[in-house]
Amino acid sequence: MFDLDQTIKDRHSTRKFLSQPVPRALLDEALALAQLAPSNSNIQPWRLVFAQGDRRDRLQEALLNQAKQQPNVSPLPSAFQYYRQELGAQVYGAMGITRDDKANRQLAVLRNYEFFGAPMVAIVCMHQDLGVADALSVGMYLQTLVLSLTARGIGTCVEVSLATYPEIIRNELNISPELLIICGLAVGYPDPDFPANHLHISRESVEKNVSFQGD
Ligand SMILES: Cc1cc2nc3c(=O)[nH]c(=O)nc-3n(C[C@H](O)[C@H](O)[C@H](O)COP(=O)(O)O)c2cc1C
Repeated sequence: MFDLDQTIKDRHSTRKFLSQPVPRALLDEALALAQLAPSNSNIQPWRLVFAQGDRRDRLQEALLNQAKQQPNVSPLPSAFQYYRQELGAQVYGAMGITRDDKANRQLAVLRNYEFFGAPMVAIVCMHQDLGVADALSVGMYLQTLVLSLTARGIGTCVEVSLATYPEIIRNELNISPELLIICGLAVGYPDPDFPANHLHISRESVEKNVSFQGD
């Protein structure tokens, strides 16, 4: 039905959404496809809680309050900081925000906690006793979900920024203490008039990440 190569190329992080709701039937189709993702011992460790309407709005308010009082940045080893700076240059550049414009950069960061205007956000969790291989399974699920949504014209942004305030999310959405909150996923229709939604964030060459050994 869809061209996989093209869908992979079409997927980009959306950082401004329209308020238009996502039809539940389309979301259900994508969720059914994502459910086919592989997982370690087929334990299907992904757990998603979707918030929309008043739940979404309450979550946004609680997260924004906290993020304004106590700004948090998800940690990154110094060897990888370069990539974050490069990404910032590309995304903020497309938004017309210069490197020195701290006030507008801070406002742009807070947009994470508004889910970039998406009408719906999913909180992605897994059981706290599971490990790295299981987080990998959740990642494979998430990519399958995101591609299935992309193929249906629906935009997404994976948001690890939300996981810097796990207790706020846990309280607002009554998420069990057994579940580790990994990240959020903003879901909605991309605003076509927002230049940063059309970015092609650069990648390293394949050779930087992959090597072949032997004959
Ligand atoms: C695990 C993960 C966490 C991410 N967290 C955030 C986030 O908190 N905020 C954000 O704006 N983008 C976030 N992103 C999006 C990445 O910045 C983005 O995927 C990357 O820069 C490549 O750009 P592209 O998705 O447009 O191809 C995240 C992506 C992943 C996979």
